[in-house]
Amino acid sequence: MNETGLNELATQISGCQRCSLHTGRTKTVPGAGNPNAEIMFIGEAPGQREDDLGIPFVGRSGEYLNYLLNLIQLERQSVFITNVVKCRPPANRDPEAEEIEACRIYLDQQIDIINPSVIVTVGRFSMARYFPKAKITQIHGQAKFVDKRAIYPIYHPAAALRNPALRRDMEADIKRLLEVIAQVKRLRNVEITSNIPDKDPPQQMALF
Ligand code: URA
Repeated sequence: MNETGLNELATQISGCQRCSLHTGRTKTVPGAGNPNAEIMFIGEAPGQREDDLGIPFVGRSGEYLNYLLNLIQLERQSVFITNVVKCRPPANRDPEAEEIEACRIYLDQQIDIINPSVIVTVGRFSMARYFPKAKITQIHGQAKFVDKRAIYPIYHPAAALRNPALRRDMEADIKRLLEVIAQVKRLRNVEITSNIPDKDPPQQMALF
């Protein structure tokens, strides 16, 4: 059961000391949402409110993320939301490469357990996991299909809060997510239907 696997992982994360971020945390923020989600959002790192509550995206960035999800009538409880690091960096600084690396084992396992059809990378740090050299300004809103899963990079809500000019792009990108979901479904269906044997298999040719 995915739920049990994710809960066990959350317990492991709560005692984690793999990097120095554990020294400053109030709560670990493992991730939240539907354990069987088709869509997984991966952000950067918890901020202060997330650290207080142990839940991802509940501060100002979270409000804007909720607004985006509402635009396409996607229920927050239907998706799974997590971050590349599960503890708050001091003063909300960017997560460092070693911290992301130390926390990678948890994110890898969450992806394995949930096995989502679409991964939405939210911001530069989760984007870099799949597109190491890319610039978010160039690839946001463009899905990459890997093994019948779509990886879909979008800007981080904090960027849109700092620079309202980005909101148009973010809103267009989130609306395009619906097309990406439909594309993945088609890809997965092609696979399924092509495995179904023909109803009327060709008759073997008579030898004489
Ligand atoms: N920003 C993130 O990337 N993640 C959170 O959980 C909150 C803010």
